[in-house]
Amino acid sequence: MKEAIEKILAELGELKASTLKEVEEARIRFLGKKGEITALFEEFRSCPPEMKREFGARLNELKKAATEKIETLKASAGESPAAAGPAEDLTMPGDDAPLGSRHPVSIVRQQIVDIFRKYGYGVAEGPEIEDDWHVFEALNFPPNHPAREMQDTFFVSNGHLNPLLLRTHTSSVQVRTMETQDLPIRVICPGRVFRNEAISARAHCIFHQVEGLYIDKGVTFADLKQAILLFAREMFGPETEIRMRPSYFPFTEPSSEVDVSCNICHGKGCNICKGTGWLEIMGCGMVDPNVLRASGIDPDVYSGFAFGMGVERIAMLKWQVNDLRHYFENDLRFLGEFATATEV
Ligand code: DAH
Repeated sequence: MKEAIEKILAELGELKASTLKEVEEARIRFLGKKGEITALFEEFRSCPPEMKREFGARLNELKKAATEKIETLKASAGESPAAAGPAEDLTMPGDDAPLGSRHPVSIVRQQIVDIFRKYGYGVAEGPEIEDDWHVFEALNFPPNHPAREMQDTFFVSNGHLNPLLLRTHTSSVQVRTMETQDLPIRVICPGRVFRNEAISARAHCIFHQVEGLYIDKGVTFADLKQAILLFAREMFGPETEIRMRPSYFPFTEPSSEVDVSCNICHGKGCNICKGTGWLEIMGCGMVDPNVLRASGIDPDVYSGFAFGMGVERIAMLKWQVNDLRHYFENDLRFLGEFATATEV
């Protein structure tokens, strides 16, 4: 028994374990139910009394030494470099976190705002839920105009004396501005508009417009034409030409539709401009005297022009996007293409 005790003591002295698993294996080997030290205690029980005296204390010392050794190994096992796995390289570059980018419609809306701001236009906003007065009545829409029908307009509350509806154009903000701001007025009104349309490549029930309004003494159609020419050249390039075609809107007289020369074929004719060399970008005109009067402005003293354009349409022409629905589907492959397109 003496040799057995000495042998185990020597082994304990040499014992090494780098992982907690190895420490546990060592504990089982020496102190477990069938362990070597446990076996010696079994043997000790059947020893003659004189041997018990000799080995009892020694055996207890052995058990204590083994327990302490196991504890020490356990405490250091988790800290050893080998147990922690390979060292981390703190100089390695981090993983790229994909950053979002601005939506193309937001980029173009901001470009439009920035261009007009340079020419002294302020920005005005109005509510998306509007009343009949601001969307139709004050803008000289006759009572039975088709735009007032359910198939074109989303009504929020109907059968009411003054029904609430989702604005179908940002021209409503013109009216609010004329009602509340001092003259002269020079504003642009960006915003979301709603129409009861079937969704297709060319139409959506929600889209964005920018409305413009300039009212002062002596404003003429020539001023309107110049403002739009400057805008078109900044938006589509310095070579851009504009052309104006007579049109009709209830709130302007005379009214016009504006085309820009095709920025793809430069007027030669391609499939984007359908061979015409021109692309339609907005409606405009001189503010109808009835509209000025409805907002309390005297048309004999003041005149003004207004224009309105679809932001998605400008963005489609600028980047040759052929389906409006791309702007609403939030496919990251599409949106990512505009990550760097922030320059005017
Ligand atoms: N409100 C018109 C629309 O939604 C756009 C428009 C045309 C606005 C002519 C104007 C304008 O201010 O003068 O289609």
